[in-house]
Amino acid sequence: MKKLLDLISDEVSQAFADAGYDAALGKVTVSNRPDLCEYQCNGAMAGAKQYHCAPIMIAEAVAEKLQGNSAFGEVSAVKPGFLNLKVSPAFAAEYMNRMAADEKFGLEIPAKPHMIILDYGGANAAKPLHVGHLRSAIIGESVKRICRYAGHTVIGDVHLGDWGLQMGLIITELQERKPELPYFDDSYAGEYPAEAPFTISELEEIYPTASKKSKDDGQHEGETDAEYQLRQQATADYKAKALAATADLQNGRRGYRALWRHIMNVSVADLKKNYDSLNVSFDLWKGESDVQDIIPGMAQKLKDDGYAYESDGALVVDIAREDDTREMPPCMILKSDGAALYTTTDIATIVERVEQYHPDEIIYFADKRQDLHFEQVFRCVKKTGIAPEETKLKFIGFGTMNGRDGKPFKTRDGGVLRLEALIKEVNEEMYQKIITGREISEEKAREIAKTVSLAAIKYGDLSNQASKDYIFDIDRFTSFEGDTGPYILYTIVRIKSILRKYQEKGGMLTDLSVLPAENEAEKALMLETAKFNAAMESACEEKAPHRVCAYIYDLCNAFNHFYHETKILAEEDQEKQKGYIALLLLVKGVLEASIDVLGFEAPEEM
Ligand code: ARG
Repeated sequence: MKKLLDLISDEVSQAFADAGYDAALGKVTVSNRPDLCEYQCNGAMAGAKQYHCAPIMIAEAVAEKLQGNSAFGEVSAVKPGFLNLKVSPAFAAEYMNRMAADEKFGLEIPAKPHMIILDYGGANAAKPLHVGHLRSAIIGESVKRICRYAGHTVIGDVHLGDWGLQMGLIITELQERKPELPYFDDSYAGEYPAEAPFTISELEEIYPTASKKSKDDGQHEGETDAEYQLRQQATADYKAKALAATADLQNGRRGYRALWRHIMNVSVADLKKNYDSLNVSFDLWKGESDVQDIIPGMAQKLKDDGYAYESDGALVVDIAREDDTREMPPCMILKSDGAALYTTTDIATIVERVEQYHPDEIIYFADKRQDLHFEQVFRCVKKTGIAPEETKLKFIGFGTMNGRDGKPFKTRDGGVLRLEALIKEVNEEMYQKIITGREISEEKAREIAKTVSLAAIKYGDLSNQASKDYIFDIDRFTSFEGDTGPYILYTIVRIKSILRKYQEKGGMLTDLSVLPAENEAEKALMLETAKFNAAMESACEEKAPHRVCAYIYDLCNAFNHFYHETKILAEEDQEKQKGYIALLLLVKGVLEASIDVLGFEAPEEM
């Protein structure tokens, strides 16, 4: 279905042509002066030069041609040469009815859907999820839903960090604690136990402990130089062991591979639980480890093709260009010890994705500080032909989530905040708001709090442009007023409640149609509703969920304004009331489709 702006642009363009001017001048935009008109066309101003006449002459001639056009309620040419337009109430109502009859409320499906791979989540196996991973999950999930809704084929891949030093650290720490386990016995040839030698809570404790033991944290207070030196040596030994264990694991040592599978099983089950509670899901649970077998052949081919060469023992590909404004170090394919790096696994993953899925687009969601990494990877795969010229590679780097002090989010005692803890905190805050000043069962209040707090967190994030840092302000995010998730849900719940009451009084929700608006608030609501297809289309093109947020915020405001101006349930004229109900149903449908692509839902009451 055509966008409303395009429909009226068509009419105005035709009028330009009918008046003897270039039809291309007839482009209509939303008015800059909503006090005067709904839409405007500045084509006469542009045409004045071309036709060597006063702009007002053209505007008047075009306005003349538009008289009697049923799309418009008002057309006026004003000096120096603007066309001020208002659509007719019948035209707006008709657009509403066409939207209501359309499965996607007027959003057109692309003639050639794209195959899009989204790489988001990016959790690191065996490390607890922290708030840093929250944004990747929330934004990626929403972009996935937006692109799917818009008609594209989308595959979401979590791309786990599952092959790095954290695995060597865990193995090393386990060996210190339980050296008797068969995984560490090289002569052991039997089957390894099916049960993991740790639980998830042990695993979550093991990694941070090991990580701490591998890092030199400087001389402690009261520690002598000699004591510090000893500790430093122990730290270095520990780190060396972990590095060796990582290499052994990657080179296929049997016992370590078996341990690794245990770590993965325990960790992935826990990650799935966490992502589930965020209403985030993936089609593929692949990770860095999955492309290990591709790497040797890939490195060899890059050498054979003359792209990769040795530099200080490492294998690299030059990617700098003459017009670079920042330094572009060569892209490293293999370290001098032959080990793969973060770039290596990402490049090999592109080899696999191109082969298996022939994607039109691959899009990555990670902290914007990974910008150089992705620039190197993208340049390398384009230069070497690993990714075809036409495959679009895009990195959506997001900003930092800060606390109210403007600094990266931390727990009250300064530690890295775990995602679960954050969700719990928002949940509790929401629960308190919901039970305040009313009678409600604990069970129900908890259930509502869960739904609404997820919306608060997600909307709080998604309503910002992804690249910006933002302040995670629990008070503001959980407020029922302002540009927040709870406000959006509150509006939907309000509509649901009206519809429920209408039905209780015997009203039916079928065979209804929107009638031409009789007042400004009603018409404004219709014109806001009509922007759905344009908003969704740009959200998809730009991979920008904040476009959907901005649209629904305006729509909710327009709805609440209409609600305060209009007696809906008390309306005596039944036909008129039916028209309102038809409009409510449409607005509800549009809002629900919108929050669904943002990745949250509305409760029945709140
Ligand atoms: N695991 C990485 C991290 O925690 C993010 C992965 C992003 N995706 C990618 N293909 N590199 O920083």
